[in-house]
Amino acid sequence: MRVVITGGAGFLGKLLAQKILAKGSLANSSGESRAISEVVLVDIAPASGEAWLNDPRVKQFDGDINDAGLLNEALTPNTGSVFHLAAVVSGQAEADFDIGMKVNVDATRTLLELCRKLPAPPKFLFTSSCAVFGGDLPDVLPDDHLPKPQGSYGIQKFIGEQMISDMSRRGMIDGRSVRLPTITVRPGKPNKAASSFASGIIREPLAGVSAVCPTSPDTKVWLMSPDRVIDNILIAHDAPASTFKFNRTITLPGITVTVKEMVESLRRVAGEAVASRITWQLDPAIDRLVTSWPKACAGDFGKSLGMKADASFDDIIRDYQSKYVKS
Ligand SMILES: NC(=O)c1ccc[n+]([C@@H]2O[C@H](COP(=O)([O-])OP(=O)(O)OC[C@H]3O[C@@H](n4cnc5c(N)ncnc54)[C@H](O)[C@@H]3O)[C@@H](O)[C@H]2O)c1
Repeated sequence: MRVVITGGAGFLGKLLAQKILAKGSLANSSGESRAISEVVLVDIAPASGEAWLNDPRVKQFDGDINDAGLLNEALTPNTGSVFHLAAVVSGQAEADFDIGMKVNVDATRTLLELCRKLPAPPKFLFTSSCAVFGGDLPDVLPDDHLPKPQGSYGIQKFIGEQMISDMSRRGMIDGRSVRLPTITVRPGKPNKAASSFASGIIREPLAGVSAVCPTSPDTKVWLMSPDRVIDNILIAHDAPASTFKFNRTITLPGITVTVKEMVESLRRVAGEAVASRITWQLDPAIDRLVTSWPKACAGDFGKSLGMKADASFDDIIRDYQSKYVKS
Protein backbone atom coordinates (compact mmCIF):
# COMPACT_ATOMS: atom_id res chain seq x y z
CA MET A 1 0.00 0.00 0.00
CA ARG A 2 0.94 3.65 -0.32
CA VAL A 3 1.57 5.78 2.77
CA VAL A 4 1.26 9.55 2.37
CA ILE A 5 2.95 11.93 4.80
CA THR A 6 2.12 15.63 4.48
CA GLY A 7 4.89 17.74 5.98
CA GLY A 8 7.03 14.71 5.17
CA ALA A 9 10.15 16.83 4.72
CA GLY A 10 9.77 18.51 8.12
CA PHE A 11 11.40 17.62 11.43
CA LEU A 12 8.92 14.93 12.53
CA GLY A 13 7.85 13.97 9.01
CA LYS A 14 11.37 12.82 8.10
CA LEU A 15 11.77 10.84 11.32
CA LEU A 16 8.37 9.23 10.81
CA ALA A 17 9.11 8.32 7.19
CA GLN A 18 12.39 6.65 8.15
CA LYS A 19 10.74 4.67 10.94
CA ILE A 20 7.92 3.53 8.63
CA LEU A 21 10.43 2.48 5.94
CA ALA A 22 12.37 0.48 8.54
CA LYS A 23 9.18 -1.19 9.82
CA GLY A 24 8.07 -2.09 6.28
CA SER A 25 4.43 -2.54 7.25
CA LEU A 26 1.60 -0.86 9.14
CA ALA A 27 -1.63 -2.20 10.60
CA ASN A 28 -4.93 -1.59 8.83
CA SER A 29 -8.21 -0.71 10.58
CA SER A 30 -8.74 -4.33 11.64
CA GLY A 31 -5.21 -4.55 13.04
CA GLU A 32 -3.88 -6.70 10.15
CA SER A 33 -0.38 -5.96 8.91
CA ARG A 34 -0.08 -4.46 5.40
CA ALA A 35 3.21 -4.21 3.53
CA ILE A 36 4.27 -0.75 2.41
CA SER A 37 5.21 -0.30 -1.23
CA GLU A 38 5.51 3.50 -1.31
CA VAL A 39 6.09 6.31 1.17
CA VAL A 40 5.07 9.62 -0.37
CA LEU A 41 6.35 12.85 1.18
CA VAL A 42 4.21 15.88 0.35
CA ASP A 43 5.89 19.13 1.34
CA ILE A 44 6.29 22.69 0.14
CA ALA A 45 10.02 22.46 0.94
CA PRO A 46 11.34 19.11 -0.34
CA ALA A 47 13.88 17.06 1.58
CA SER A 48 17.30 16.51 0.06
CA GLY A 49 20.78 15.20 0.72
CA GLU A 50 19.91 12.31 3.04
CA ALA A 51 20.72 8.72 2.09
CA TRP A 52 17.32 7.25 3.07
CA LEU A 53 15.64 9.43 0.41
CA ASN A 54 17.23 7.09 -2.18
CA ASP A 55 15.10 4.18 -0.94
CA PRO A 56 13.10 3.14 -4.05
CA ARG A 57 9.88 3.24 -1.99
CA VAL A 58 10.28 6.99 -1.33
CA LYS A 59 8.55 9.53 -3.60
CA GLN A 60 8.44 13.26 -3.11
CA PHE A 61 5.59 15.55 -4.17
CA ASP A 62 6.74 19.14 -3.87
CA GLY A 63 4.07 21.76 -3.40
CA ASP A 64 1.44 23.38 -1.24
CA ILE A 65 -1.17 21.24 0.50
CA ASN A 66 -3.70 23.93 -0.43
CA ASP A 67 -3.32 22.64 -3.99
CA ALA A 68 -6.08 20.02 -4.31
CA GLY A 69 -4.56 18.81 -7.59
CA LEU A 70 -1.28 17.96 -5.88
CA LEU A 71 -3.08 16.11 -3.07
CA ASN A 72 -5.24 14.26 -5.56
CA GLU A 73 -2.12 13.06 -7.38
CA ALA A 74 -0.56 11.91 -4.11
CA LEU A 75 -3.67 10.02 -2.95
CA THR A 76 -3.70 7.09 -5.38
CA PRO A 77 -6.36 4.37 -4.88
CA ASN A 78 -3.86 2.13 -3.06
CA THR A 79 -3.32 4.75 -0.31
CA GLY A 80 -3.94 2.96 2.99
CA SER A 81 -2.60 5.50 5.49
CA VAL A 82 -2.28 9.27 5.55
CA PHE A 83 -0.18 11.02 8.17
CA HIS A 84 -1.12 14.71 8.17
CA LEU A 85 1.78 16.66 9.67
CA ALA A 86 2.05 19.73 7.42
CA ALA A 87 1.09 22.79 9.42
CA VAL A 88 1.74 26.40 10.15
CA VAL A 89 3.17 26.22 13.67
CA SER A 90 2.10 28.17 16.77
CA GLY A 91 4.14 31.40 16.56
CA GLN A 92 3.38 31.89 12.87
CA ALA A 93 -0.32 31.02 13.21
CA GLU A 94 -0.62 33.61 15.98
CA ALA A 95 1.26 36.27 13.98
CA ASP A 96 -0.68 35.63 10.75
CA PHE A 97 -4.29 34.50 11.23
CA ASP A 98 -4.98 34.05 7.51
CA ILE A 99 -2.08 31.73 6.72
CA GLY A 100 -2.89 29.65 9.80
CA MET A 101 -6.53 29.21 8.73
CA LYS A 102 -5.54 28.50 5.14
CA VAL A 103 -3.04 25.74 5.90
CA ASN A 104 -4.25 24.36 9.23
CA VAL A 105 -7.99 24.42 8.53
CA ASP A 106 -8.74 24.83 4.81
CA ALA A 107 -6.07 22.42 3.53
CA THR A 108 -6.89 19.88 6.25
CA ARG A 109 -10.54 19.93 5.08
CA THR A 110 -9.45 19.55 1.44
CA LEU A 111 -7.22 16.61 2.32
CA LEU A 112 -9.99 14.94 4.31
CA GLU A 113 -12.49 15.42 1.46
CA LEU A 114 -10.08 13.74 -0.95
CA CYS A 115 -9.48 10.89 1.50
CA ARG A 116 -13.26 10.30 1.57
CA LYS A 117 -13.13 9.61 -2.15
CA LEU A 118 -10.60 6.78 -1.86
CA PRO A 119 -11.97 3.28 -2.59
CA ALA A 120 -11.51 2.28 1.08
CA PRO A 121 -11.48 4.70 4.06
CA PRO A 122 -7.79 5.25 4.85
CA LYS A 123 -6.27 5.44 8.28
CA PHE A 124 -5.75 9.15 8.93
CA LEU A 125 -3.28 10.24 11.61
CA PHE A 126 -3.35 13.95 12.50
CA THR A 127 -0.69 15.62 14.62
CA SER A 128 -2.64 17.91 16.92
CA SER A 129 -1.13 19.64 19.90
CA CYS A 130 -1.50 20.22 23.64
CA ALA A 131 -1.98 23.85 22.54
CA VAL A 132 -5.67 22.92 22.14
CA PHE A 133 -5.87 23.32 25.92
CA GLY A 134 -5.98 26.71 27.62
CA GLY A 135 -7.82 28.84 30.14
CA ASP A 136 -7.98 27.69 33.76
CA LEU A 137 -6.20 24.36 33.79
CA PRO A 138 -5.79 21.82 36.62
CA ASP A 139 -2.20 20.81 37.53
CA VAL A 140 -2.67 17.51 35.70
CA LEU A 141 -5.15 17.53 32.83
CA PRO A 142 -7.47 14.53 32.57
CA ASP A 143 -7.98 13.16 29.05
CA ASP A 144 -11.56 14.43 28.88
CA HIS A 145 -10.76 18.07 29.77
CA LEU A 146 -12.62 20.36 27.36
CA PRO A 147 -10.18 22.28 25.13
CA LYS A 148 -10.42 26.07 25.37
CA PRO A 149 -7.45 27.14 23.25
CA GLN A 150 -5.96 30.57 23.91
CA GLY A 151 -4.20 30.88 20.55
CA SER A 152 -5.22 30.59 16.90
CA TYR A 153 -2.98 27.54 16.36
CA GLY A 154 -4.73 25.66 19.18
CA ILE A 155 -8.15 26.58 17.77
CA GLN A 156 -7.10 25.44 14.28
CA LYS A 157 -5.82 22.10 15.61
CA PHE A 158 -9.05 21.64 17.59
CA ILE A 159 -11.11 22.24 14.43
CA GLY A 160 -9.00 19.58 12.66
CA GLU A 161 -9.61 17.10 15.49
CA GLN A 162 -13.37 17.68 15.32
CA MET A 163 -13.52 17.18 11.54
CA ILE A 164 -11.57 13.94 11.93
CA SER A 165 -13.80 12.66 14.75
CA ASP A 166 -17.00 13.34 12.81
CA MET A 167 -15.75 11.85 9.55
CA SER A 168 -14.51 8.78 11.45
CA ARG A 169 -17.90 8.36 13.16
CA ARG A 170 -19.46 8.45 9.71
CA GLY A 171 -17.02 5.83 8.38
CA MET A 172 -15.53 8.19 5.78
CA ILE A 173 -12.02 7.77 7.21
CA ASP A 174 -10.48 5.86 10.12
CA GLY A 175 -8.99 8.87 11.89
CA ARG A 176 -7.04 9.48 15.02
CA SER A 177 -5.62 12.78 16.31
CA VAL A 178 -2.64 12.81 18.64
CA ARG A 179 -2.05 15.81 20.88
CA LEU A 180 1.69 16.26 21.00
CA PRO A 181 3.61 17.86 23.86
CA THR A 182 6.50 20.16 22.93
CA ILE A 183 9.05 17.99 21.14
CA THR A 184 12.66 18.57 22.08
CA VAL A 185 15.51 18.50 21.16
CA ARG A 186 14.90 19.45 17.54
CA PRO A 187 18.10 19.36 15.44
CA GLY A 188 18.93 21.96 12.80
CA LYS A 189 17.53 25.45 12.74
CA PRO A 190 14.89 27.08 14.98
CA ASN A 191 11.33 27.13 13.60
CA LYS A 192 8.41 29.54 14.15
CA ALA A 193 6.83 27.58 17.01
CA ALA A 194 6.49 29.53 20.27
CA SER A 195 8.09 26.49 21.92
CA SER A 196 11.14 26.64 19.64
CA PHE A 197 13.28 27.89 22.55
CA ALA A 198 12.80 24.52 24.33
CA SER A 199 15.11 23.04 21.70
CA GLY A 200 17.22 26.17 21.14
CA ILE A 201 18.41 26.45 24.75
CA ILE A 202 19.89 22.93 24.49
CA ARG A 203 20.90 22.73 20.81
CA GLU A 204 22.66 26.10 20.51
CA PRO A 205 24.82 25.87 23.68
CA LEU A 206 25.85 22.32 22.71
CA ALA A 207 26.97 23.75 19.35
CA GLY A 208 29.02 26.45 21.10
CA VAL A 209 26.48 29.18 20.39
CA SER A 210 24.65 31.39 22.89
CA ALA A 211 20.87 31.08 23.29
CA VAL A 212 18.24 33.40 24.73
CA CYS A 213 15.45 31.95 26.85
CA PRO A 214 12.26 33.99 26.35
CA THR A 215 10.28 32.71 29.37
CA SER A 216 10.67 32.76 33.12
CA PRO A 217 12.86 29.99 34.65
CA ASP A 218 9.82 28.67 36.56
CA THR A 219 7.75 28.06 33.42
CA LYS A 220 6.71 24.42 33.28
CA VAL A 221 6.86 22.73 29.88
CA TRP A 222 5.20 19.45 28.85
CA LEU A 223 7.80 17.58 26.81
CA MET A 224 8.63 14.52 24.74
CA SER A 225 11.69 13.46 22.74
CA PRO A 226 11.56 13.04 18.93
CA ASP A 227 12.08 9.26 19.01
CA ARG A 228 9.46 8.78 21.68
CA VAL A 229 6.85 10.81 19.80
CA ILE A 230 7.36 8.81 16.61
CA ASP A 231 6.92 5.55 18.56
CA ASN A 232 3.73 6.92 20.12
CA ILE A 233 2.39 8.17 16.77
CA LEU A 234 2.85 4.68 15.33
CA ILE A 235 1.06 3.11 18.30
CA ALA A 236 -1.87 5.49 17.66
CA HIS A 237 -1.83 4.60 13.98
CA ASP A 238 -1.68 0.86 14.46
CA ALA A 239 -4.46 0.66 17.06
CA PRO A 240 -7.47 -1.04 15.48
CA ALA A 241 -10.54 1.11 14.78
CA SER A 242 -12.42 -0.78 17.50
CA THR A 243 -10.13 0.85 20.11
CA PHE A 244 -11.98 4.12 19.69
CA LYS A 245 -15.51 4.48 21.04
CA PHE A 246 -16.63 8.09 21.45
CA ASN A 247 -13.26 9.70 21.06
CA ARG A 248 -10.70 9.78 18.24
CA THR A 249 -8.23 11.99 20.09
CA ILE A 250 -5.28 10.84 22.17
CA THR A 251 -3.30 13.13 24.47
CA LEU A 252 0.21 11.72 24.53
CA PRO A 253 1.96 11.07 27.85
CA GLY A 254 4.96 13.35 28.44
CA ILE A 255 7.16 14.72 31.21
CA THR A 256 6.94 18.08 32.98
CA VAL A 257 10.15 20.05 33.33
CA THR A 258 10.62 23.69 34.32
CA VAL A 259 12.88 25.72 32.08
CA LYS A 260 15.25 26.08 35.02
CA GLU A 261 15.36 22.29 35.35
CA MET A 262 16.11 22.03 31.64
CA VAL A 263 19.15 24.25 32.14
CA GLU A 264 20.20 22.23 35.20
CA SER A 265 19.97 19.06 33.10
CA LEU A 266 22.17 20.65 30.46
CA ARG A 267 24.67 21.62 33.16
CA ARG A 268 24.73 18.05 34.52
CA VAL A 269 25.08 16.44 31.10
CA ALA A 270 27.35 18.91 29.27
CA GLY A 271 28.98 21.04 31.98
CA GLU A 272 28.95 24.59 33.28
CA ALA A 273 30.66 26.16 30.26
CA VAL A 274 27.87 24.91 27.98
CA ALA A 275 25.01 25.86 30.35
CA SER A 276 26.45 29.35 30.83
CA ARG A 277 25.76 30.11 27.14
CA ILE A 278 22.07 30.62 28.06
CA THR A 279 20.81 34.13 28.83
CA TRP A 280 17.30 35.20 29.84
CA GLN A 281 15.17 37.84 28.18
CA LEU A 282 11.39 37.65 28.52
CA ASP A 283 9.47 37.79 25.24
CA PRO A 284 5.85 38.57 26.28
CA ALA A 285 4.27 37.13 23.10
CA ILE A 286 6.07 33.78 23.44
CA ASP A 287 5.62 33.69 27.21
CA ARG A 288 1.85 34.28 26.92
CA LEU A 289 1.38 31.36 24.51
CA VAL A 290 3.69 28.94 26.30
CA THR A 291 2.20 29.63 29.74
CA SER A 292 -1.34 29.13 28.36
CA TRP A 293 -0.51 25.49 27.54
CA PRO A 294 -0.92 22.59 30.00
CA LYS A 295 1.88 21.83 32.45
CA ALA A 296 1.01 18.13 32.62
CA CYS A 297 -1.53 15.78 31.05
CA ALA A 298 -2.62 12.43 32.47
CA GLY A 299 -2.47 10.72 29.06
CA ASP A 300 -4.28 7.66 30.46
CA PHE A 301 -5.85 6.57 27.15
CA GLY A 302 -2.47 6.71 25.39
CA LYS A 303 -0.80 4.78 28.20
CA SER A 304 -3.53 2.11 27.97
CA LEU A 305 -2.49 1.64 24.32
CA GLY A 306 1.16 1.16 25.35
CA MET A 307 2.41 4.73 24.84
CA LYS A 308 5.29 5.86 27.02
CA ALA A 309 6.84 9.08 28.27
CA ASP A 310 10.61 9.69 28.34
CA ALA A 311 12.50 8.65 31.48
CA SER A 312 14.11 12.06 32.16
CA PHE A 313 15.21 15.27 30.49
CA ASP A 314 18.85 14.32 31.12
CA ASP A 315 18.23 11.25 28.94
CA ILE A 316 16.65 13.40 26.23
CA ILE A 317 19.76 15.61 26.11
CA ARG A 318 22.12 12.60 26.11
CA ASP A 319 20.17 11.04 23.25
CA TYR A 320 20.39 14.28 21.23
CA GLN A 321 24.12 14.57 21.99
CA SER A 322 24.83 11.03 20.87
CA LYS A 323 23.04 11.56 17.54
CA TYR A 324 23.78 15.15 16.59
CA VAL A 325 26.72 16.58 18.53
CA LYS A 326 30.21 15.94 17.19
CA SER A 327 32.60 15.05 20.02
N1 LIG B 1 7.50 19.72 17.05
C1 LIG B 1 6.67 20.01 18.06
O1 LIG B 1 7.09 20.39 19.18
C2 LIG B 1 5.18 19.84 17.87
C3 LIG B 1 4.34 19.96 18.98
C4 LIG B 1 2.98 19.83 18.81
C5 LIG B 1 2.45 19.56 17.55
N2 LIG B 1 3.29 19.46 16.48
C6 LIG B 1 2.72 19.21 15.15
O2 LIG B 1 3.46 18.17 14.53
C7 LIG B 1 3.52 18.40 13.11
C8 LIG B 1 4.95 18.35 12.62
O3 LIG B 1 5.70 19.31 13.32
P1 LIG B 1 7.23 19.58 13.00
O4 LIG B 1 7.85 20.01 14.28
O5 LIG B 1 7.79 18.45 12.24
O6 LIG B 1 7.10 20.86 12.09
P2 LIG B 1 8.00 21.30 10.84
O7 LIG B 1 7.73 22.76 10.65
O8 LIG B 1 9.39 20.84 10.99
O9 LIG B 1 7.35 20.47 9.65
C9 LIG B 1 6.16 20.84 9.04
C10 LIG B 1 6.37 20.66 7.55
O10 LIG B 1 5.17 21.06 6.90
C11 LIG B 1 5.54 21.71 5.71
N3 LIG B 1 4.47 22.63 5.31
C12 LIG B 1 4.04 23.73 5.97
N4 LIG B 1 3.08 24.34 5.26
C13 LIG B 1 2.90 23.60 4.14
C14 LIG B 1 2.05 23.72 3.02
N5 LIG B 1 1.20 24.73 2.90
N6 LIG B 1 2.12 22.77 2.06
C15 LIG B 1 2.99 21.73 2.15
N7 LIG B 1 3.84 21.60 3.18
C16 LIG B 1 3.78 22.50 4.17
C17 LIG B 1 6.81 22.47 6.04
O11 LIG B 1 7.56 22.77 4.87
C18 LIG B 1 7.50 21.49 6.98
O12 LIG B 1 8.42 20.68 6.27
C19 LIG B 1 2.80 19.71 12.88
O13 LIG B 1 1.47 19.44 12.52
C20 LIG B 1 2.85 20.39 14.22
O14 LIG B 1 1.78 21.30 14.38
C21 LIG B 1 4.65 19.58 16.61
